[in-house]
Amino acid sequence: MPEPFRIGIAGLGTVGVGLVELLQNNAALIHKRAGRELEIVSVSARDRGKNRAVDLTSYEWVDNVMVMADDDRLDAVVELIGGTEGVARGLVSRTLSNGRAVVTANKALLAHHGYELASIAEKNHAPLMCEAAVAGGIPIIKALREGFSANNINAVYGILNGTCNYILTTMRETGQSFEAVLQEAQEKGYAESDPAFDVDGVDAAHKLCLISALAFGVKPEIEQVKTTGITHITAKDILYAQELGYRVKLLGMTRNLRGKIIQTIEPCLVPDEGPMGAVENVFNAVFVEGDFVGDSLSVGRGAGAGPTASAVAADLVDLMRAISVPVFGIPCAAMQEADWGDSGDLTGRFYMHLVVSDKPGVLADVSAIMRDHGVSLEAVAQRGRAPDKPVSIIMSTHKVKQADIQNAARIAADLPMVHTPPCLLRIENI
Ligand code: NAP
Ligand code: HSE
Repeated sequence: MPEPFRIGIAGLGTVGVGLVELLQNNAALIHKRAGRELEIVSVSARDRGKNRAVDLTSYEWVDNVMVMADDDRLDAVVELIGGTEGVARGLVSRTLSNGRAVVTANKALLAHHGYELASIAEKNHAPLMCEAAVAGGIPIIKALREGFSANNINAVYGILNGTCNYILTTMRETGQSFEAVLQEAQEKGYAESDPAFDVDGVDAAHKLCLISALAFGVKPEIEQVKTTGITHITAKDILYAQELGYRVKLLGMTRNLRGKIIQTIEPCLVPDEGPMGAVENVFNAVFVEGDFVGDSLSVGRGAGAGPTASAVAADLVDLMRAISVPVFGIPCAAMQEADWGDSGDLTGRFYMHLVVSDKPGVLADVSAIMRDHGVSLEAVAQRGRAPDKPVSIIMSTHKVKQADIQNAARIAADLPMVHTPPCLLRIENI
């Protein structure tokens, strides 16, 4: 009879409690599939007195999580605290240094210190597993690291933040305000402890730089993700996009453009009847282009207790089966500093929404700026008629260089009759 696989769980919030519930409910199934029993030895959180809605009475309570790093009874420590520094970083680093396995859902930590932690893991022959860090319940890390391991990857596109997708979908479907829908997402356990990480695109950027590392074998560099969130997207943009046959999605895109890696997080328009347009609410999607596999699309719930706990538990089952692969799919020594490209060099079609005074000549002035920057317009429409009052002008362009349209938008923003900075969004046909 094999020894049970013994773990400590650090952090009992949305994900930690979800994991305890899953491990309690599916204990027999996991035992059967992994060939060993999984035993929770100890748990830890900040506040011992908090009601956690799961029965924790049979586990040891640990006040200082660092004790778990040094506990020789444990086969693995599960870090579900969050944050790039402090306790989470210390716990993961020390546990790995002690030669013990770590499972974490902490994409922020890995985006900032992934290479350093992977090196510690490798040096100490300690697995570091992180399936829950990217796209919740979609096993995309396993797919990139194992399933697509024999492919050169050209690009990965994804809806990587469940909170943003939930907000954009619900605003479109119900007309509720941004703030009200964000609060709902927080109540459902989708958002980060600081939801600015979600709506400013930072959480998606954390995930994207891990995807780049897995897809291209480059060291993760969060500073190299050009990041724009969704806070400037108005109900009108969502409506106008819909009228044009599109939906607004926060897309993470990493591509290998003639040897240069370009990583962007930005709200984009995607066809409402296309595969990405159909990914709604808290669902995430990851679209991979490989040289032999071709195109592959995975869809699943991107946030919340159940999907995230499912991914953490899958890592535990891999550890119980003694399956372990390098954190980023290749040994640390083989990982390279990327040659980072400039997103301004990308080309594409764009949507632009300007709020202008309804005066003769405005459209001519804006069109002249576009002409001077080599931007060819596909369609222009005014929404509403209110002489001398603000009205919306909606433009879509033919394929242009991103830097050119961005410069044109900046200059248009300075025109006296333009009221607010133009909303400029890429149109992606995926
Ligand atoms: P959460 O609900 O805020 O839970 C964090 C937990 O960490 C709480 O139980 C908290 O204790 C505990 N904690 C904080 N400081 C601690 C310390 N010094 N020692 C011990 N415990 C401490 O966060 P979450 O949503 O579960 O997220 C956890 C991690 O998973 C984060 O890295 C997050 O980015 C990641 N993640 C979350 C989701 C999601 O859908 N929520 C999805 C994928 C990945 P108290 O409860 O006592 O305050
Ligand atoms: N806050 C994150 C999201 C959790 O909404 O996608 C999942 O990583």
